[in-house]
Amino acid sequence: MKTILITAGPTFEPIDPVRGLTNRSTGIMGYEIAKEAARRGLAVTLVSGPVSIKPPPGVKTVCVETALDMYKAVMKTFKKADCFVMAAAVSDYRPETVFPEKLKKRKNMTLKLTVNRDILKSVPHLKRQVRVGFALESENLAFNAVKKMRAKKLDFIVANSITPSTSPFGEGDKDFTIFARGGRTISVRNKSKVRLSKIILDMAEDILNRKKTAVFLT
Ligand code: CTP
Repeated sequence: MKTILITAGPTFEPIDPVRGLTNRSTGIMGYEIAKEAARRGLAVTLVSGPVSIKPPPGVKTVCVETALDMYKAVMKTFKKADCFVMAAAVSDYRPETVFPEKLKKRKNMTLKLTVNRDILKSVPHLKRQVRVGFALESENLAFNAVKKMRAKKLDFIVANSITPSTSPFGEGDKDFTIFARGGRTISVRNKSKVRLSKIILDMAEDILNRKKTAVFLT
């Protein structure tokens, strides 16, 4: 594996010059994958939504704000990548109208939202590329994650759950389950995102090597 494209962080969908829609993603997961990939000598492009962590050294970081900006940045680079990891928490919706002036306080306010494009579904599936996605679920983790893996044509998906007592956001040891094509399930318990990034890259390397061998044999 020589080149990798990673997305990280949340997106920010403006409402007016002051406010916007976003989520709790910190970007740490994608940034750790980028750091580990750079440490392994890969050419890394990191497309990042607004986060408060520093760009990793040795990584080409493209800073974006909205889901549309992220989609455009991904479209520019994805063809060159041997591996494409979509770790960003993309906002599913954006305000239908972006108000040019700061909205004044009123008694009631209704915000109309438009659905954002699904980046993973929109980026063409390249057979020679390893595609990795994430799934954040509050119920039916395995069912929903496997459904996303198939719908988004991924080689594997890293699923984590959010409950009143467990949060996947930020630093610290977490539980993850990786679902891979062909039915393999890997349970990663109580591990840091640093450790998980190594597991993800090892798996991606392995799948890429198998894809190359398959092409060679046909
Ligand atoms: N994703 C994407 N574009 C979007 C939304 C999500 O590319 N507009 C990617 C995420 O980066 C992640 C995967 O799709 O790799 C799953 O994201 P998730 O938010 O868990 O699921 P959704 O597909 O948005 O479905 P839902 O919100 O209904 O669970």
